Amino acid sequence: MNVYISPNDLEAVVEADRAHVWHHLVQHAPWTGDAPKGDPRIIVEGKGLRVWDQHGKEHIDAVAGGVWTVNVGYGRESIADAVREQILRMNFFGGTVGSIPGAQFAEKLMTKMPGMTRLYYANSGSEANEKAFKIVRQIAHKRYGGKKHKVLYRDRDYHGSTLATMSAGGQDERNAQYGPFAPGFVRVPHCMEYRKHEQDGAPVENYGEWAADQIEKVILAEGPDTVGALCLEPVTAGGGVITPPEGYWPRVQEICKKYDILLHIDEVVCGMGRTGTWFGYQNYDVQPDIVTMAKGVASGYAAISCCVTTEAVFDMFRDDSSDPLNYFRDISTFGGCTAGPAAALENMRILEDEGLLQNTLDMGARLIANLNAMAEKHAVIGDVRGAGLFCGAELVADRGSKDPVAEAMVGAVVADCNQQGVIIGATNRSVPGRNNTLCFSPPLIATADDIDAITDAVDGALGRVFG
Ligand SMILES: Cc1ncc(COP(=O)(O)O)c(C=O)c1O
Repeated sequence: MNVYISPNDLEAVVEADRAHVWHHLVQHAPWTGDAPKGDPRIIVEGKGLRVWDQHGKEHIDAVAGGVWTVNVGYGRESIADAVREQILRMNFFGGTVGSIPGAQFAEKLMTKMPGMTRLYYANSGSEANEKAFKIVRQIAHKRYGGKKHKVLYRDRDYHGSTLATMSAGGQDERNAQYGPFAPGFVRVPHCMEYRKHEQDGAPVENYGEWAADQIEKVILAEGPDTVGALCLEPVTAGGGVITPPEGYWPRVQEICKKYDILLHIDEVVCGMGRTGTWFGYQNYDVQPDIVTMAKGVASGYAAISCCVTTEAVFDMFRDDSSDPLNYFRDISTFGGCTAGPAAALENMRILEDEGLLQNTLDMGARLIANLNAMAEKHAVIGDVRGAGLFCGAELVADRGSKDPVAEAMVGAVVADCNQQGVIIGATNRSVPGRNNTLCFSPPLIATADDIDAITDAVDGALGRVFG
């Protein structure tokens, strides 16, 4: 670690943090009060896929900044340079006008998304999804007298932390205590083959088609003329790293076409290479109408999110310029920041020039192979799944019943890895009684040695926690 702040100053930072910062997703009680147990963690520096904390301890980051974000790794000078140059020249102007990096990134992005043409800038995944929901609602009002306004979302999926995105939230533990939610959002069943025994009527064969057909049942029950869009993650992230079963996506596409329902794919986690393709949906030969993305778009070097649509969707907002309400009357102040698209352009160049999509496929295969090999040794691993460098290992008390292990044990595995200097993740306050999946999503620059170091740490941790 290149210490640029003295140990005394760092102590002051920890105390300032303890006293004043409200951390995300964390219970503060242990760090606060009269007899605090331990300190909040401060990450001081990062380089490649390693980060250093306030004690100078080095960690391998197997979760890309904790939340699937830092795809090209830490300490990228070329992104810092691109952002610096851009913000000195022109840092911000509201999004009613364009910017040089905004136009250039949009053009470049569309070369990776055949069929998509328009990009609306915002600054978080939740916000991009809100834009998509508003587009669907406005189309309902413009075209269908307000009737075709419902958005379908899936059990176990997550689309953000704002109230509308939580209304489309399929993770009941995350939603608990934040209701009531907005009307017009309707849940469809999950497509998790490993847990199909928990779904009434799920077949042994052709589960993927059956799971998609459950969506059609919901559409028919709601009335197809009331359903405007279906919003899905390509691979469910925080709900358990759920890869879609064979046959699922083609049937989903068919159903959307049949009932004239817009397909909105939430690529906030999978977008920008995480699964080894530019976008997760491109693994499944499906054509969306709306795609949202955020985390990996600029690898966390600047806040940026995008709501991307087809020209057909865009056209619906310019068909009658005599009507003063006919266009998309939405703004995101910080969607006008130029740091986001400047960082995103350079981020994309790095992904291309360093061959990181291929590396993601190669290292993802190695990670899955290592986890599968470990499953032969540790019966607690019930299922290994993933796409590219987006992998999960579900821990069960018994492989026959698939009963999950206690959450505290999952936490103990994560803590043991931490102790060894490897930061891994686990599904967290997500699905009640089902927060039992270890999550791995290192930066896409990971080498074979890094992958082996991550799985060696997990191997040791499983041995210590479960024997
Ligand atoms: C699939 C998915 N969509 C949307 C979001 C929300 O993104 P943000 O936290 O940037 O609002 C997340 C965040 O984890 C996510 O995993």
